[in-house]
Amino acid sequence: MVQNVYEVLLKPVGDERGYLLPIEVGRDAVPFDVKRIYYMYGIPDGKGRGQHAHLDLRQILICVHGSCKVRCDYGGGRPVETYILDKPDKGLVIEGLVWREMSDFEAETVLLVLADEHYDVAAPKEIREYQVFLNKVDEEMMK
Ligand code: TYD
Repeated sequence: MVQNVYEVLLKPVGDERGYLLPIEVGRDAVPFDVKRIYYMYGIPDGKGRGQHAHLDLRQILICVHGSCKVRCDYGGGRPVETYILDKPDKGLVIEGLVWREMSDFEAETVLLVLADEHYDVAAPKEIREYQVFLNKVDEEMMK
């Protein structure tokens, strides 16, 4: 079962005019081909996002403005990990079967996500029921 969560440092180019942060697909810190880009913003105080898992999607999350927490639950009795995204040059790669919950969004936060698969609006592939996620993890661990 491919399942991996890790932080990556992106490389901003700074000068007296500020910063520019290039992301070159297949190079640097983004270890997959990007097919989809989306971002979340205007998140009201106290609201969370996520609360689902993907079977095999690869994503990188970057708080390009503001900050949030990302709680990653692997199921199978493994310890939950919580990451803090609080800089535009910090990314969190999430691959495989991970139940993720984003919370504690600072006001005006913009959370950018790059993903390696298109989104099928008619038939989204994510798992939205926690128990179904746990069952799927157990199933995968038995293989
Ligand atoms: P949703 O998956 O609920 O967001 P979150 O990541 O917080 O769980 O998606 C919110 C809405 O946006 C939902 O109607 C589906 C739609 N959506 C797309 O159209 N394309 C996408 O790439 C994503 C991630 C969501």
